[in-house]
Amino acid sequence: MIIIYTSNTGNTKEYAMMLREALDLPAYRLGEAPAQVDGAEAVYLGWIMAGGLVGYASAAKKYRIVCAVGVGMSPESEEQTKKLAEKIKAPEGLPVFYLQGGYDKKKLKGFNKAVMSVVEKTIMKRLENLPEAERTENPVYKMLTEGYSVVSKERLQPVIDWYENR
Ligand SMILES: Cc1cc2nc3c(=O)[nH]c(=O)nc-3n(C[C@H](O)[C@H](O)[C@H](O)COP(=O)(O)O)c2cc1C
Repeated sequence: MIIIYTSNTGNTKEYAMMLREALDLPAYRLGEAPAQVDGAEAVYLGWIMAGGLVGYASAAKKYRIVCAVGVGMSPESEEQTKKLAEKIKAPEGLPVFYLQGGYDKKKLKGFNKAVMSVVEKTIMKRLENLPEAERTENPVYKMLTEGYSVVSKERLQPVIDWYENR
């Protein structure tokens, strides 16, 4: 079993490195794995872009994905996980996890930056309805205003548990 990941600004990579450490499995960025591991069973971790799991379709052509993990900026919820599973058309029985990562506009470039400058305004509008104390403590608010990450081993634990109990 191997770990394959795609990361744009580093949050998913951090989760992939934590998972490598916890499970003692080799981890490769998609496109950088040696040919010897083609066709191997893989845990796939990708960042979420417009609800989709970046890299999943190409990874699924090359490896036998046994678990898919999406990393986005929205808080974790059952609904997020369900939406992700639907979006990637997860085959019956494939474990799918959604993890909250981080966001920092300073790390974005080009198209992604342009798209997000519009999306940011929409999210900020929603957050502005929260009472100030609650808003300033909100992780997504911190992500949008100053750049922030909630990547942690605790958040990754359900994936580790899945691996250990599979
Ligand atoms: C163009 C773009 C679209 C995004 N769309 C979503 C989204 O639909 N849902 C979400 O929760 N996060 C979304 N995000 C936030 C990223 O998924 C989040 O920052 C993630 O942690 C990035 O992982 P990375 O650091 O490994 O690249 C988007 C970010 C960008 C740049």
